[in-house]
Amino acid sequence: MARGAKDRVLSGMRPSGRVHLGNYLGALVNWVKLQETMDCYYFVADWHALTDDLDTSDVPGNTVEMLADWLGAGLDPERATLFIQSLVPEHAELHLLFSMTTPVTWLERVPTYRERIEQQHLESPSYGLLGYPLLQSADILMYKPRWVPVGIDQAPHVELTREVARRFNNTFGDVFPEPDVKLTEIPKVPGTDGRKMSKSYNNTIDLADDAETITRKVRPMVTDPARKRRTDPGNPDICPVFDLHKIFTPPADQEWAATGCRTAGIGCLDCKDVLLKHMLPPLTAIRERRQVFAEKPARIVEILHEGSRRARGVAQATMHDVRAAVHLTP
Ligand code: TRP
Ligand code: SF4
Repeated sequence: MARGAKDRVLSGMRPSGRVHLGNYLGALVNWVKLQETMDCYYFVADWHALTDDLDTSDVPGNTVEMLADWLGAGLDPERATLFIQSLVPEHAELHLLFSMTTPVTWLERVPTYRERIEQQHLESPSYGLLGYPLLQSADILMYKPRWVPVGIDQAPHVELTREVARRFNNTFGDVFPEPDVKLTEIPKVPGTDGRKMSKSYNNTIDLADDAETITRKVRPMVTDPARKRRTDPGNPDICPVFDLHKIFTPPADQEWAATGCRTAGIGCLDCKDVLLKHMLPPLTAIRERRQVFAEKPARIVEILHEGSRRARGVAQATMHDVRAAVHLTP
């Protein structure tokens, strides 16, 4: 099928370091699946990373590492367009025009904005942080995608994107179709301390981790606190280790773990070793594939530049229509 006949998909990720199991299961798995049937654009949101840290010294390295993870997970640059936001400066121009049509109040009530101010105790949040979801709207609408595959935390940004498109179209004429969010069914992915897996909690299992590292992280994992002793029965429904079983372990062994837990028939270490038996092979396969790419950073840079050229072609066509609609120059 020709590229143009397929539905288009767009999504992005900030280059904030190594991809962990939560990012992988929450987004990447879906991205990889979608490239089979759709015209996919996936990008590194490096401008958005400036809202995390103005010290950019890690950004180029993180970009290469993240791409190694993407490729290790199975993204294929022959089928999906992989690019860098800042190499397509048209995104900034579109963001500027949206900043003229979008009321500030729409941005002030975006939940991620409020959360970031609270969590990071920001006294004077930057203009860029307020505009974060608007830049995201520009990232998305530039490619006029049918679908935006993201986790539930990003759904309000896609909803805002639809409103931004509507407002622009009403003001200047019909340029942008409204995209739909494609929610990834995210399993609950706990970190090693039982909280949500997150880089900021330092509780992640990364795609770059080798078997020994994963084992070292899983064996001391937090379990049902009621199981203080081997003889205490436990409840798998509230155990983070069991959440990982639900992701990696086939039904028969899941049943074995649940029953053994409830009857104190097995110990937590037995339970974790069976989990490791099931989680290590698929994760090792990803890591080995990622390693091949990580050893060739020049190839990764080439993939990103090639993808960015392709993306830029689409962006320039969109901006041509946008400039005609806004109609400023004589
Ligand atoms: N905000 C997204 C995140 O933190 C990253 C992102 C930026 C994005 N632009 C996007 C995701 C456009 C989807 C579409 O994960
Ligand atoms: Fe969790 Fe397994 Fe221990 Fe039960 S036996 S508390 S499911 S680790």
